[in-house]
Amino acid sequence: MPLHEGKRSLDVVVFPGSFDPLTKGHSDLVHRALRYFDRVVVAVLSNSKKSTLFTPDERVDVIREVFADQNGRVEVQHFSGLLVEFAQRVGTRAILRGLRAISDYEYEAQMAIMNRHLSSEVETFFLTSRAEYSYISSSLVREVALLGGEITPFVPPAVEAAVHAKVKQIKRTKE
Ligand code: PNS
Repeated sequence: MPLHEGKRSLDVVVFPGSFDPLTKGHSDLVHRALRYFDRVVVAVLSNSKKSTLFTPDERVDVIREVFADQNGRVEVQHFSGLLVEFAQRVGTRAILRGLRAISDYEYEAQMAIMNRHLSSEVETFFLTSRAEYSYISSSLVREVALLGGEITPFVPPAVEAAVHAKVKQIKRTKE
């Protein structure tokens, strides 16, 4: 059936990232992707070279909590190694990434082209951020939280609780 007759031709999309932590920008992209894809697999990078605030398991758990009301249409897994191999294991050729500003483009285009080189079937689908989330990044959320600032506008409530607990834990270990 042609797309214009209303049938979705797409099934699963992988949404990869560090998600340290997941922001409202990320969760908005997942909700918007669910209008076009039957399922979204959020893929949490577990072997990042960057030092992270949360362990991969902690990130997976909180993201599952955020999407617990999506009737199983959002799955959360961690992955290491090549993203295209993870996508193959999931059974999709579609990758989702967000673009906040033109400054994201260079890095995102490099990754998309590299992934298509590694697996010619793979396509990266980009969604632009909503304007109100275009200035939010996980790194700024971490910085603001660690310095005692308010993060309510930037992250879903479950993430906010996890960040507060983590900041408390870090402060206790420093005492
Ligand atoms: O949220 P991030 O940190 O910008 O996400 C980066 C991510 C996880 C998408 C990227 O680092 C990635 O895909 N890593 C997996 C390794 C890989 O496949 N590398 C080759 C293609 S770029």
